[in-house]
Amino acid sequence: MMLTALGLMSGTSLDGVDVAMIETDGRKVNALGPSGYRPYSDQERGLLRQALYEATELPDRTARPGCLREAERVVTAAHAEAVANFAAQNRLSFDDIDIVGFHGQTVLHRPERKLTVQIGDGASLARAIHIPVMYDFRAADVDAGGQGAPFVPVYHRALAQSLDWEGPTVVVNIGGVSNITYIDGDTLIACDTGPGNALLDDHMLRRLNQRFDTEGRTAAMGTVDAAWINRALQLPFFSAPPPKSLDRNDFASLKVDDMSPTDGAATLTAFTAAAICRVVPLLPKEPKNWIVAGGGARNLTMLRMLREALAPATVRAADTLGWASDSIEAQAFGFLAARGLKGLPLSYPATTGVPFPMTGGMIARP
Ligand SMILES: Nc1ncnc2c1ncn2[C@@H]1O[C@H](COP(=O)(O)OP(=O)(O)O)[C@@H](O)[C@H]1O
Ligand SMILES: [Mg+2]
Repeated sequence: MMLTALGLMSGTSLDGVDVAMIETDGRKVNALGPSGYRPYSDQERGLLRQALYEATELPDRTARPGCLREAERVVTAAHAEAVANFAAQNRLSFDDIDIVGFHGQTVLHRPERKLTVQIGDGASLARAIHIPVMYDFRAADVDAGGQGAPFVPVYHRALAQSLDWEGPTVVVNIGGVSNITYIDGDTLIACDTGPGNALLDDHMLRRLNQRFDTEGRTAAMGTVDAAWINRALQLPFFSAPPPKSLDRNDFASLKVDDMSPTDGAATLTAFTAAAICRVVPLLPKEPKNWIVAGGGARNLTMLRMLREALAPATVRAADTLGWASDSIEAQAFGFLAARGLKGLPLSYPATTGVPFPMTGGMIARP
């Protein structure tokens, strides 16, 4: 049975809520619908940053001490507003949508403690939008000993199946953190690779008071400190085989403060690219095709660095394939909601390290 699902994603970049509609039976993508975006205000983003900071001491996934209760309320309200705006813009009524996949905002990701915390109240969102909501996608996976991330691989696989390309294909998602999905016939392997945009965003904000490096222009003016990158790549994370996952701030201690703002931006951009390339020797075969998605795909310096490092493999921005680069993760959570409803696996031993294929998600009805 085909379902019309709406996916809602708020990633580690803390930029805003992506919304996307997808028609799917949880296996195949029948049609992709429109997408939308509801940015966080500076005030909301400030509260989320504070929530991330206060979440480091969380004892369990339901505790909401300090500002976390208020942050959760703000996240839920922003998502309700995102759905209302999206429905109005596309003249949809709540009867047109069968299920909403609500990722929530990750404030802590510590799979080694069997803990991954996404704030956002599924039950109150379902009541606000009058549509069944699936949420808490990652909890069952970490509970069973998985990494709880990445979760987009099953969706990347569904998208890549329609390409019919020869040779291994990798889809890279550059969000706050970067992750890859390796697809070769039936083989599906996935992991986080290292930083995405988060280190660079933090640097741009601190040094140049800009939210991000638009199109990679600042990095394009700087010089890369190759020795710094080589040192950073010595961290054990980078040589560990997949599956593996990261928290947004896992590399926040790596500083480029003694470099000029442009050299720092160039070095952090090259670090993200180098960390993505570092995964190649950990894969069964050398990938032939790379597809880059997420906000990082708009960073032209990042794309150039990836192309140089991965040649002769081809590197394409997802947009050039007709995929909506900014909406893939939101589409993925619509797709995952459909899978969750049908009890299909969301994660596998080779994507999150969970011991067996694992379904997940909790359902809240209005
Ligand atoms: N025009 C652009 N040029 C360069 N980088 C961009 C651009 N637009 C967005 N980004 C980057 O993408 C990030 C958002 O990416 P996104 O895929 O939404 O990440 P997440 O899933 O972590 O929220 C921004 O924080 C910024 O670093
Ligand atoms: Mg985002």
